[in-house]
Amino acid sequence: MLIFDSGVGGLSILENIKNNFPKINYIYLLDNEGFPYGEKKESFIIQRSINIINTIQKLYPINIVIIACNTASTISLSILKKHFDIPIIGVLPSLTKAKKITKNNIIGFIATKATIKSVYTQNILSKYIHYEKIKVIATNKLAEIAEKKIKKLPISNLELKKVFNSWIISISQPDTIYLGCTHFTFLKNEIQNIFKKPINFVETHDKVTRMVKKFFLNNKYNQKIKKNIFLYSKNNIEPNQLFWILKKYQFRYIKLINLD
Ligand code: DGL
Repeated sequence: MLIFDSGVGGLSILENIKNNFPKINYIYLLDNEGFPYGEKKESFIIQRSINIINTIQKLYPINIVIIACNTASTISLSILKKHFDIPIIGVLPSLTKAKKITKNNIIGFIATKATIKSVYTQNILSKYIHYEKIKVIATNKLAEIAEKKIKKLPISNLELKKVFNSWIISISQPDTIYLGCTHFTFLKNEIQNIFKKPINFVETHDKVTRMVKKFFLNNKYNQKIKKNIFLYSKNNIEPNQLFWILKKYQFRYIKLINLD
């Protein structure tokens, strides 16, 4: 199983899968050279995703790909599925659950600028426009803050508040927030703390895990990769920032990889 993201956000997807399949082996590709995807053009994200799958397929016997990133999934999933024979699962935003659980009928949708701009997301938002109040924030800042937190660097509450300012000052605050970027999972406590009322956070992680489950049921949990491998695309990470990640997710092998 290959799982990739521009950064540490995809680890939240990996964690959910691991909780359901403790014995699963995986390759995690941290495309830190491409970070942030949220600021990139669609053509870059599509080509990058193709390069990633091509490169890893040549090096390792992967049988499934998880795009653990909303930005890459909304923009490239349908194209990648046509391009490759291997099963590919993505993280695609959905407001169905948020709509069910909201009490005040105000839903917040926050994601990267590229995700919000994508045709996929625009289609979803247009379906809800008439009967539900959806408040949207398009930000590339929040993934940056999450990167800092995961790397145990100090994060600024003021920066966080700035991102959410339009909701904080609004008299109609959302009671339910759809987190449309895998990085944001790591900031739930911090986000909750800047709002006075309790927030329902909604994500698509469980859906991804259900799809992985279905894949393994149909493929008899046949694992070709024998140890957990951590790959990264740019040599700008301090080893001590990575240490706890390597330990927590039981990576046994780490390697810098060229994706160009
Ligand atoms: N983790 C990615 C996502 O889910 C985005 C981070 C980035 O901008 O690179 O959208």
